Amino acid sequence: MDFNYTDEQLMIKQTARDFAEENLAPGVMERDEEAKYPVEQIKMMAELGFMGMVVPDKWQGAGMDFVSYVIAIEELARVDASAAVVMSVNNSLVCQIFLNWCNDQQRAKYLPRLATGEILGAYSLSEPQSGSDASAMRTFARKDGDHYVLNGTKNWVTNGISSDVAIVYALTTKGIGYKGVSAFIVEKGWEGFSVGKKEDKLGIRGSDTCEFYFDNCRIPVENLVGEEGKGFKIAMNTLDGGRIGIAAQALGIAQAALDKSIVYAKEREQFGQPIANFGATHDKLSNMACNVDAARLLIHRAAMLKDENKRFTKEGAMAKYFATKIAMEATTLCVQIFGGYGYMREYGVERLMRDAKITQIYEGTSEIQQLVIARELLRD
Ligand code: CAA
Repeated sequence: MDFNYTDEQLMIKQTARDFAEENLAPGVMERDEEAKYPVEQIKMMAELGFMGMVVPDKWQGAGMDFVSYVIAIEELARVDASAAVVMSVNNSLVCQIFLNWCNDQQRAKYLPRLATGEILGAYSLSEPQSGSDASAMRTFARKDGDHYVLNGTKNWVTNGISSDVAIVYALTTKGIGYKGVSAFIVEKGWEGFSVGKKEDKLGIRGSDTCEFYFDNCRIPVENLVGEEGKGFKIAMNTLDGGRIGIAAQALGIAQAALDKSIVYAKEREQFGQPIANFGATHDKLSNMACNVDAARLLIHRAAMLKDENKRFTKEGAMAKYFATKIAMEATTLCVQIFGGYGYMREYGVERLMRDAKITQIYEGTSEIQQLVIARELLRD
């Protein structure tokens, strides 16, 4: 394993850090408070090539490796976890589906526009009764000549409101479990496709989340991804990579908690000296620093395996499980170091704690990551 970044990866890290400090930091607290989507910032991220980072040049992406992608996500999430998840869903879920599972006709129609940020993608798997048990979905797509007719409700769709196109999973055959699931490319604005209200969330309030409703929505057969019945495998395979992106988002949040804690511990005086002098503070800072580095190593290992086209299901789940756990811990410790001030919105560290929580829930809860890891360990 090479612990050195390439020149290109170093450049990405610096570019993402500078962009985040200059363009995401101003207004991040206001966007959180008012649940405002970062419209202008996402346009700027698109200009930097961030919306299609690993999409090859041929499809107008930035043609970078997955390690560069997780480096960029970490840097953006360090300042604004909401902007980072908008980018993450578009890259490691939606663009990846087009790259890995769609045909050239489908790629030509959507991928360049997704990769350049002209349009935004969403990924719609969950339903009110099927979260972790993803194949228990009820949304049904009935074949009708050269169309499928889609009916059902999907929920917790990240980018649901701002997106232009969504990958939507539905049953095409009932009663055969995951083997009946298929994936479709569905455009906003098609008759029978409506979008629910913007959800009022605990964290990542700058990104939008909503329900999708399908009422006899007609999808052309050419928008079926791969074959009928392959949808569950497509969903799982794509989530393997998506989970590395969410791990990187969690890492960025944890790094922010550590950075802010260090600055504050040196400034804040109690009992006649900076709290940085106290053993209780050393315990917290050292714990956070070890965990942040360990999470980064797990994430980069998983990203490298993905870049090498090797199997990384277990390593991706390990990265997500660990990075999201330590993000929750680090942000809680950060609020503790800030004490009463940390509990006030004005200091911006309670937002880190709120933002961290979702990373243990979406793209597979921590419990699902543990299940995936254990199954891989016990596999014959
Ligand atoms: N890659 C490819 N195929 C896979 C796979 C993977 N990682 N994992 C499973 N499969 C295949 C299996 O091989 C099996 O196929 P075969 O029988 O042909 O071999 C099939 O899928 C079924 O697998 P399982 O028997 O393991 O399925 P299961 O029902 O026991 O569930 C699970 C597996 C891990 C619990 C899965 O349901 C899961 O990951 N649940 C969590 C769902 C999730 O992550 N939701 C997130 C929503 S998306 C989101 O959050 C996006 C957003 O907006 C931010």
